[in-house]
This record gives sequence, structure tokens and C-alpha cells, in this order.
Amino acid sequence: MSRLPLRLRLTAAFGLAMAVLLTAAGFLLSDHLGTSLDRTVAQGLRARAADISALVKQADTGLQESGLRSDGFAQVLDLRGKIVDHTPGLTESLLATAQLQRAKSGPLLVQRTTLSEGTVRLLAQPVSAQDRRLVVVVGTPLESRDAALATLRTELLVGGPIGLLVASVIGYLLAAAALRPVDRMRARAAAISANRLSERLPVARSHDEVSRLGDTLNEMLTRLETAMERERSFVADASHELRTPLAHLQAEVELALETPRTRGQLETALREVGIETDRLSQLAADLLLLARSDKGKLPLRLDDVALDELLGGVAARFDRRARDDRRRFEVNVPHIHVRVDRLRLEQALGNLVENSLRHGAGTIRLSATADDGMLDLHVADDGPGFPAGFAPHAFERFSRAEQSRGEGGTGLGLAIVAAIASAHGGEADVVASARGADVRLRIPRSVSQRQAPEPPRRRQTNGDPRQLRSSPAT
Ligand SMILES: Nc1ncnc2c1ncn2[C@@H]1O[C@H](COP(=O)(O)OP(=O)(O)OP(=O)(O)O)[C@@H](O)[C@H]1O
Ligand SMILES: [Mg+2]
Repeated sequence: MSRLPLRLRLTAAFGLAMAVLLTAAGFLLSDHLGTSLDRTVAQGLRARAADISALVKQADTGLQESGLRSDGFAQVLDLRGKIVDHTPGLTESLLATAQLQRAKSGPLLVQRTTLSEGTVRLLAQPVSAQDRRLVVVVGTPLESRDAALATLRTELLVGGPIGLLVASVIGYLLAAAALRPVDRMRARAAAISANRLSERLPVARSHDEVSRLGDTLNEMLTRLETAMERERSFVADASHELRTPLAHLQAEVELALETPRTRGQLETALREVGIETDRLSQLAADLLLLARSDKGKLPLRLDDVALDELLGGVAARFDRRARDDRRRFEVNVPHIHVRVDRLRLEQALGNLVENSLRHGAGTIRLSATADDGMLDLHVADDGPGFPAGFAPHAFERFSRAEQSRGEGGTGLGLAIVAAIASAHGGEADVVASARGADVRLRIPRSVSQRQAPEPPRRRQTNGDPRQLRSSPAT
């Protein structure tokens, strides 16, 4: 059954239900007609019995002469069963002895088959006349009642299957019409491939379940297309970013091999090669982190961390570079303990400080506030801030404001900050402040361990992962 097309299964179920309904309706109808015909017959018999009883009381029934065969026949019996009077031709008692006994005490309705009349219905009722107790029996043939019932049953037997067939055909056509849009969607969906994700399923404007299914599937296609688009541009951007240091490496090595070089020149070339290799491994580590975060599998190693110590450590790490640029740090953090991944948070804050050093100006302010279970970490500076309209895109991968394009960054720093915030169950955003840049990391004070313990982190060229993005990028 489950292999049959849906429209056939629907039609079969519909047909079956109709068959049950029609059969039940047929039975009810014929039963109802039978009952009402019986009631009419009984009423006629009662009226005739009353008439004849009245005549019996007047001592003259005149049944012999009545000859009324059209509305039935009658007999008057005494209590021993002897016929006192009868309509013509009824010379035998209509009642058996037992029936006569029962009829003495009250009206009795019986049915029997006679040779001359076929099936008949009889009403017997006692009557007292001139000190005699008699029983009046009236009867009527059931021929016309049975004929009416038989006609109805024949009509039902012929009309029922025809009705069932018509209903099933209509059911099939309706099911086919309702499922046609589904079939069209299926055909289009089968034709949509990864390269044609911009196509959409045809959706009828009927606002029913099928059109809602189509709308939902189309929304899913839009999400898939966006994700695929993002993936493609991510891969394209990543390859582009990888190409630059690789080209530098190649040029350095070729140059070193081309001409005889002094030891000093070779050392300089090797140092350049080292810088480019660092850049490459840093880029690879960033891409790996983002790929893990995409899968929701950026593992956290949660620790009880003193917040002032954490932010103070970040400031100390960049202090030398800041002083070289004649800049300074201002750290304003309460002494509270939070449960976070220390290294990841240091990495995120390091990226923000790096940005302030590279894109901002003036004092770099690290601050933190904690309330109702949430922790706000700010890294702000007095530079030009995020260009108007760029802030909402700043956390996208490889996104850099126009004026930062020549500055050597890859545009992954803030994307990594956002990924780390999200792994902690929080978020990162740019605070719309009047002057300078202010990036906020908002995470729960006590992050719940959502992932399995992290396997040992791979060591980078310069060891500690907190150093990952702290080395000069240029
Ligand atoms: N403190 C800041 N002041 C002004 N602009 C900023 C600041 N921080 C970030 N930006 C802007 O946001 C862009 C994205 O920053 P992001 O850290 O993601 O990339 P990046 O610094 O250019 O490169 P990298 O991948 O090396 O960090 C920057 O290119 C810059 O235009
Ligand atoms: Mg950056």
C-alpha cells in the first residue's frame, strides 16, 4: 500500500470511507422506511379492528357481505377458536390456539404466512358483546410494503456503487490537483544543484499547507545560498591572503639562490622568510579557529580567572609596542573572578588591542563591568573610530574599511573576536560612541562548559597561542 502513489492511497481511503458511509446510510434508510411502513400498517389495522369491534357490540358485523378485500380481511372468533363471523373465503381460524389465548387478555400483533394472501400481518383484540367474550382479528397483506422495501433496496444497490465510483473519481481528481504543485516543486528541486542555488521552487499563491511548505523550502534555499556564497568568498579570500606571503617567500628564496650572497644578505633573506612563514602559520591558525567555530566546535578550557589580572596581562604584553608609538594603556577593571577560557579571551582582547594600535590613536583603555551575570569588556581608543556604515560589517571575515586596506591586516581579527565571544555564549559589537573606537565583548560571567574538553592545542611557531596574533603583522 505504501508503494502506491499518494493520490491513489488518498482515493482508496476516501473510497473506503464513502463505502462504509453509503452502506450505513442504506441500512438506516431501509430500516427507517420499513419501520414507518409497519407503523402505517399497524395504524390501519387498529382502525379497522376498532370499527369491527364497534359492529360486534351492535351484534351485526356484516363481514360476510362486506367483501372488502382491498384494505384487508377480518374474522370474529369466540374464545374456543370457533369462527363467529368472517370476510368471504376465510373459513379457517387466522389464529393458532396459543395466539388466541394471548389475544384474550389484550391486543396482539402477529405476522404469518397464509396460502392465499402470502405474508400477512394480523391484529387480534378482545371484545365483549352481549355477555359474550369474542376476539376480533383483522389482517392485511404485506405485499405492497415488501415491494416498496425491495424497490428501495434495489435502488440503493445500483445507485450506491455508482455514487461511490463518482465520489472516488472526484476524490482522485481533487487529490491529483492538490498534489500537482508538490510534484512541480519536486521536479524543480531535483534540478537545483549546488551551482544553481539562486533558483527557487514554484509556489502557488494559495496560502495553504503546500504553498507554506514551498515558502519554507525557498527560505531554506535562500539560507543555503547565503551560506554557500559565504563559504565561496571565504575560500576565495583565504586563498588570496595565502597567496601574498607565499609569493613573498618564493621571491625571497629565488633571490637568495640567484646570485652569490654574503652571509649577512642570506641572514636578512632568512629573516624575511621567517616573517612570512610566521604570517602563514598565523593565517592558517586563524582560518582553523574560524572553521571550528563554524561547526560550533570551538572548544573552551574554562578556568577561574581574576579579571584585573587578565586585562593587566594583556596591557603588559603590548606595553612596549604602545610606548614605541608614544601611546599608553589605561586599565580600569574591578577585582572579580570569572569563569572563562583564559587563553581564548586573551587572544580576543589581544586582537582588539592590536587593532587600537594599528587603526586607532591615543590612550588605549581596557575596562570591564559586571552585572546580573553578564560581563562587559571594552577596548577603546581615541583614534578616528570605525568609518560610518562600516561598524555592522566589521566582524565579517576579511572585511576591512577602505582606508585600512593597505595596512597589511587580513581582516580576520574581529571575526575571531566574535567567534570567541560566541563560543562563550556571548557576542561582540562596536559601541556607537562619540569619539574614537570602542569594541565591547559581552559574555556570561560564568560560562557553562558546552563542549568536550579540548585536546592539547597545537603549538605555534612562537609557542603560546596567546602570542598568535600579537606579533607585528607587517
Ligand atoms: N580601533 C579601531 N579603530 C578604527 N578602525 C578599526 C579599529 N579596529 C578595527 N577597525 C577597522 O575594522 C577592520 C577590521 O578589523 P580586523 O581586526 O578584523 O582586521 P584587520 O585589523 O584589518 O586585520 P587583522 O586580521 O590583521 O586583524 C580594520 O581593517 C579597520 O578598518
Ligand atoms: Mg585586526
